[in-house]
Amino acid sequence: MRRPSFLSLPLPLQLLLLPLWLSLTSAQMLPAAAASSGPRGVPACPEACECAPGGQANCSARALPAVPKGLSLNVRALLLDHNRVCMLPPRAFQGAGALLRLDMRENGLRAVHARAFWGLVELQQLDLGSNQLEALAPGTFTRLRALRNLSLAGNRLARLEPATLGTLPLLHALSLQDNALAALGPGLLASLPALVSLRLRGNPWACDCALRPLCSWLSRHPSLPEADTLFCVSPGHLTASPMTAFTDAAFSHCGQPLTLWDLAVVSVLGPFSFLASLASCLVLGSVLTACRVYRRRRRRQAVARRPPSRPPDPKPATSPAVSQSSAAAHT
Ligand SMILES: *[C@@H]1O[C@H](CO)[C@@H](O)[C@H](O)[C@H]1NC(C)=O
Ligand SMILES: *[C@@H]1O[C@H](CO)[C@@H](O)[C@H](O)[C@H]1NC(C)=O
Repeated sequence: MRRPSFLSLPLPLQLLLLPLWLSLTSAQMLPAAAASSGPRGVPACPEACECAPGGQANCSARALPAVPKGLSLNVRALLLDHNRVCMLPPRAFQGAGALLRLDMRENGLRAVHARAFWGLVELQQLDLGSNQLEALAPGTFTRLRALRNLSLAGNRLARLEPATLGTLPLLHALSLQDNALAALGPGLLASLPALVSLRLRGNPWACDCALRPLCSWLSRHPSLPEADTLFCVSPGHLTASPMTAFTDAAFSHCGQPLTLWDLAVVSVLGPFSFLASLASCLVLGSVLTACRVYRRRRRRQAVARRPPSRPPDPKPATSPAVSQSSAAAHT
């Protein structure tokens, strides 16, 4: 059936119906745009990349200045290595919620927003190696709960705080080699329960008390291939001492970390002492109030026992001072 042509209508009617006609025609074009994303399994390919069935988007070495647009749920591996993506904004990989593997090596990456990886709930492998990262914000990796393999190797990181990674229950490989790390933040390794592979070479490790958690982790994982090749760089007298030589006894001069028992005592004593001080305030307050009430009652009883005072003597003989003092006794 043939619809009446829009152009055959009279001009005033055309003007009146123009918005409606435009919205109808754009709606007809939508399914065509969606169809261009290709058959299932092949990513809706970002323009600059080559995509293969199975979900690999190959955007390697294309001088890209930013994460390409047009990522979809079909992309399972995004190869973005050897490009020029120097910063990642919030939600930099919007639309690619099914990504399993992300390779961002060699991009000159300097800044990663704390929310850059939001939405990548299935990501298992993240490689940020060989970039220019000097610091990472708290929370950067905390939402990547499926992460198994993280590489930050070959950057300029001088610090890595536990809050940057958070608790990553499945992370089993962490590469930190060739950075500027002197220590790891306390508690960082403790919140990575599945970790078995840790690469640490090429960092200026300082063998002082801050290294204790790392040394004790190493002593519990003696099969680590590079463990015997890790050396202290500072302090001076310990330079070139192997890190595995530091047993727990070597740290006996460092304050013992809080044990579970200490924490329990603190957490019980804290509220208890608060309640105790509250209670003693209450007791003291009520004792003072009781004393005052008792004294007032005694005074009132004393006044009641005294004979009723006569009205002031009309005789001019009494001096005004005497009548004043008797009036004061009344009140
Ligand atoms: C990605 O594409 C580049 C250039 O086309 C090619 O040299 C490279 O081998 C590809 N990588 C993979 C893993 O397919
Ligand atoms: C982690 O992933 C990298 C590739 O990004 C791979 O070369 C390496 O073998 C993986 N490490 C482990 C322990 O799975």
